[in-house]
Amino acid sequence: LDQYAVFGHPISHSKSPRIHSLFAEQTGQQIHYVAQDVPAGAFKAAADTFFAADGKGLNCTVPLKELAWQYAGQLSVSARKSKAVNTLARLADGSILGDNTDGIGLVRDLTINHNITLANSRILILGAGGATRGILHPLLAQNPAHISIVNRTRHKADTIVHEFADLGSLNSCDYADLTSLQFDLIINATSASLSDELPPLPDALLAANGYCYDLAYANKPTAFVRWGKTQHARKSLDGLGMLVEQAAEAFALWRGIRPETGPVIDLLNRERE
Ligand code: ATR
Repeated sequence: LDQYAVFGHPISHSKSPRIHSLFAEQTGQQIHYVAQDVPAGAFKAAADTFFAADGKGLNCTVPLKELAWQYAGQLSVSARKSKAVNTLARLADGSILGDNTDGIGLVRDLTINHNITLANSRILILGAGGATRGILHPLLAQNPAHISIVNRTRHKADTIVHEFADLGSLNSCDYADLTSLQFDLIINATSASLSDELPPLPDALLAANGYCYDLAYANKPTAFVRWGKTQHARKSLDGLGMLVEQAAEAFALWRGIRPETGPVIDLLNRERE
C-alpha cells in the first residue's frame, strides 16, 4: 500500500486520516494514511525517514507549514507566494514537491459549496499569520474589489500587503479603523478561535447579506461563527468545508483523481451534531 501521513503537533484530534480513508474508499484507491505527532524540532528527521521508507505524500499542519516550505525541493506558485506548505508529494524522480492547498480549498468551499460570489466583493481578513499567507493568492485570483487585512500587530499586516500587492488590491488597517468600514465577507484567520476568543469587531462591520467564515472549526460554533450570527450574516461558517476541500486537492495531487467532497462534508457535519 502507498504510504501517506499528516504531521503536526498536537495531532491526535486530526480528521485528516478519516477524510483520506473516505476519499480512498469512494475512488477505489488503496492507500494507507496515518497521523503522526511531530513537533517542529523533529520535523526534518521525521520527513526524511518517511520519504526514505518510500512514503508518497505528507500533509503538514500547525506548527510545521513553514518548515515544510523550506523542506520542499520544488514549490507550486501558491506555496512559493505563501511561504507555507500543507502538502508534500514525492514525484517519480524522487524530488519533493511542496504545495499549499488551503487557499484553493477555502475558495472552493466558498464559491462551489456555498455559492458565494467573490468577484467584486469587499473582503476583510482578521489576522496576519501563516493562515492569512496561505489563502491570499487564491483569494486575490478571484478578483475581489479589495482585500483588507487587520491585525493587532500592524507591521505583520503591512509586510504581507507588501509581499502580495502585485496580485491585486490589498491594504492593511488597525482594529480601531474598522468602525467606518463595511465588508461583504469577513474571514477569521486569527488563532483566537482556538481559545474561544474574538478580536474586537464593531457592529455594522458586516454588510447586509454578508458572509462570515472562520478558518478554524470545532464541534461547537466558534466565537467568530457566533458573532457572525449576531450580525445577521447570510451564512456564518466554520472551516470544516475548507478542511475537506484542501484534503481533496492534496488527494488529487497524490493520486491523480479528485474525490467528491460533498458526501464527506455532509458525513463529518452529521457526526458533530
Ligand atoms: P497561524 O499560522 O494560525 O496564522 P500565527 O502565525 O501564530 O498562526 O498567527 C496568529 C494570528 O492570530 C496573528 O495575526 C495574531 O495576531 P498578532 O500578530 O497581533 O499576534 C492573531 N491573534 C491571535 N490571538 C488573537 C486575539 N485574541 N485577538 C486578535 N488577534 C489574535
